[in-house]
Amino acid sequence: QKITNILAIESSCDETSAAIIQNGKVLSNHIATQHVHERYGGVVPELASRAHMQNIIPVVDAAIKDAGIVNEEITALAFTQAPGLIGSLLVGACFAKAFAQARNLPLIAVHHMQAHVLAHFIDEQPPFPFMCLTVSGGHTQIVLCKDYLNMEIMGETIDDAAGEAFDKVAKMLGLPYPGGPLVDKYAKLGDPLRFKFPLSEMPEYNFSFSGVKTSILYFLQKERKLDPDFAEKNLNDICASAQYTIVKMLINKLTKAAKAQNIKHVGIAGGVSANSGLRKALLEAGEKNGWKVYIPKFEYCTDNAAMIGITGYYKFLKGDFTDLSVSPSARATW
Ligand code: KG4
Ligand code: ZN
Repeated sequence: QKITNILAIESSCDETSAAIIQNGKVLSNHIATQHVHERYGGVVPELASRAHMQNIIPVVDAAIKDAGIVNEEITALAFTQAPGLIGSLLVGACFAKAFAQARNLPLIAVHHMQAHVLAHFIDEQPPFPFMCLTVSGGHTQIVLCKDYLNMEIMGETIDDAAGEAFDKVAKMLGLPYPGGPLVDKYAKLGDPLRFKFPLSEMPEYNFSFSGVKTSILYFLQKERKLDPDFAEKNLNDICASAQYTIVKMLINKLTKAAKAQNIKHVGIAGGVSANSGLRKALLEAGEKNGWKVYIPKFEYCTDNAAMIGITGYYKFLKGDFTDLSVSPSARATW
């Protein structure tokens, strides 16, 4: 059998990542996380682009070395074409185009959100139809996956992403960025039913998190007038109640969508899939509805090039290549 070594690049937000995928298997997956954004409380696009420029060659070198191959053995390039921060995407796209042109190699453009879903196919092979809830700092989508490259977005957020909602709650509580994991940590010690926040109900399978965020903000403002230390004294219960609300909204819609399509194989992806409340609720919903539940390794849940390479591999098998005129796009449908 002919050996296919795909060099995959991911640079859509604040992680610079490179991976080598050999005949559909991940040989290496390197990720350089940018820490410059922490002090700003969010990703600063211009700083992200600059950090990608500094990181890209060392990260690619590390991925190639770690895979135990040499540059000349690479047979195709895959890169994140959309969606993401345009300056960040440009760094990865330019690198991949230059490499492909210099070596005369096929070039594969990958959609970041399809790649999050296909991260489930790195270590496992869930049968189709498969449904994935992708939840991260930038995205919240319910995707119906009929085949590797045949996907349909059933629902998505109309405002904040789920991770953003977690981070904003954390910020209101005075926790550092990104606060999602801290909310999770304190929630484990608190009572999820102590405070009630409204579950904003959107039509169909869509989400909206701005209502919960505002209600928590007003609630904290009111309580802090009576006791300035209210949030500090009740941190665990506030985190537990906020997490309970966000998770419930996610699982309600996912269940509704899975039932409507009679889906029995359900997964979660994206950084928020690390959330212990979401994992527990997914397992419970799985028990109740007879689903087999899938959660990829955490390294494949957050932004990474391995998922770009797997998606690239399925596109490679179909001969779905792009030419050098391709340019990245901040927004894109599939
Ligand atoms: O996928 P990811 O690493 O990056 C993108 O946004 O694409 O996701 C990061 C998001 C952040 O909003 C972070 O706060 C959230 O995932 N997150 C969590 C947890 N771990 C990460 N949110 C809640 N609970 C967690 N344990
Ligand atoms: Zn992502």
